[in-house]
Amino acid sequence: MDTNAPIQIPSHVPPELVRKLGITESAEFLASPHKFMAALHETQPPIVFSYGDHSPPAWNLLKYEDAYFVLRHPEFFTTEGTGPFPRDPNDYWKIIPLEIEPPDHRKYRALVDPLVSPKAVLALEVSIRAFANELIDNFIDKGECEFAKEFGRPLPVGVFLDLMALPRDMMDEFVRWAMGLLHAQDRVIAGQVMAEVTQYLNKVIAEKRGVLDGGMVSAIVNGRPGGEEMSARETFGFLFFVWIAGLDTVFATLNNIFVWLAENPERRQEIIDTPDNINNVVEELLRVFTVTFSGRTVRDDIELRGIKMKKGDKITSILPACNYDPDAFPNPAEVNFHRPRKPVLTFAGGAHSCLGAHLARLEVKICIQEFLRRIPNFTIKPGAKIEYWPGGVVGPKDVPLAW
Ligand code: HEM
Repeated sequence: MDTNAPIQIPSHVPPELVRKLGITESAEFLASPHKFMAALHETQPPIVFSYGDHSPPAWNLLKYEDAYFVLRHPEFFTTEGTGPFPRDPNDYWKIIPLEIEPPDHRKYRALVDPLVSPKAVLALEVSIRAFANELIDNFIDKGECEFAKEFGRPLPVGVFLDLMALPRDMMDEFVRWAMGLLHAQDRVIAGQVMAEVTQYLNKVIAEKRGVLDGGMVSAIVNGRPGGEEMSARETFGFLFFVWIAGLDTVFATLNNIFVWLAENPERRQEIIDTPDNINNVVEELLRVFTVTFSGRTVRDDIELRGIKMKKGDKITSILPACNYDPDAFPNPAEVNFHRPRKPVLTFAGGAHSCLGAHLARLEVKICIQEFLRRIPNFTIKPGAKIEYWPGGVVGPKDVPLAW
């Protein structure tokens, strides 16, 4: 977005609903992003029209019910063109499966869903646990670690490389690329990284053509949605999105959770003392540490909560705020491992709900279990200050731990 261009607020937007909320970029957000999200329910109406220095103007939805409605009604709200990566209009490719709408969407998901079904991810449990322990072995005797660098990023990348059937020696490159694309804060660097990623993914596409190795790259490259061959652009858009969607989101989730665990020794003990409640623990931590957002475009003029929206208006569901909606989760700021079950919006909902949700849940569970088993007592390294990344995936930059 050109930060010098004047912001165009469409004339149908009531001026009293226009504001610069500061989500993903203001000093208040960066000081404590999830507290900021929770507080929005006290200071803002349910729907506002917000813009920022780095985010284009859009209706921001804060209520759980509204986001749920939008996510479940692709006939009113489309994902087309809402993917979070700017593309060259002269060489446009769709982000797949996000920018394909039902009913065609199902044909693309059918190629990859079986690889990350609850049953398929359970088969990965032993190897994820082994890998988590290998990483812990590397730093346990030091009495400290930089969690993000030594665990929170390498673990999901290792798991992801296995899932994709790509060599583990790509680990460092994948971390660098994911960080560069999402957090570079510099267009030139992001552009260079995008060129490297493109070159690598195209190489992998060529290598996996005709190779059926059970991995996700092979499933995409050799897949025929609805029996039709995909174009080279489609194959690239599919592989690129699965690649980018499965990395930084998991890094950020783990890093947020481990800051909280370090700062809350009694709650850590509670988790250790109630091992049978681990699935509820994971679900609640995923609720309070929701890391990302969901964008849509209004298909035809529509009214939501009495607000008139016009065809072409952009909508962003502020999922981390929706998961703090007091109407959906009473006393939302309390981390309560015995909350009545209600679907969280962490992985969105509806047709486009996250492909990797079962895998991500399993990774979070194993990381908490194995880390707390081996290192039950730890703190944030004395004197360290936790700083957060600006941008569309909410998480800390570094997580220095000591024990
Ligand atoms: C904690 C980790 C994760 C979080 C918080 C997360 C969050 C999300 C959200 C909110 C969406 C919906 C976007 C929308 O509707 O606008 C989504 C979609 C998606 N995610 Fe995840 N994700 C995570 C992990 C993963 C992993 C590990 C993978 C890959 C294995 C993955 C692949 C995808 C894909 C391909 C989509 C698009 C689905 C579709 O359009 O049908 N995600 N994710």
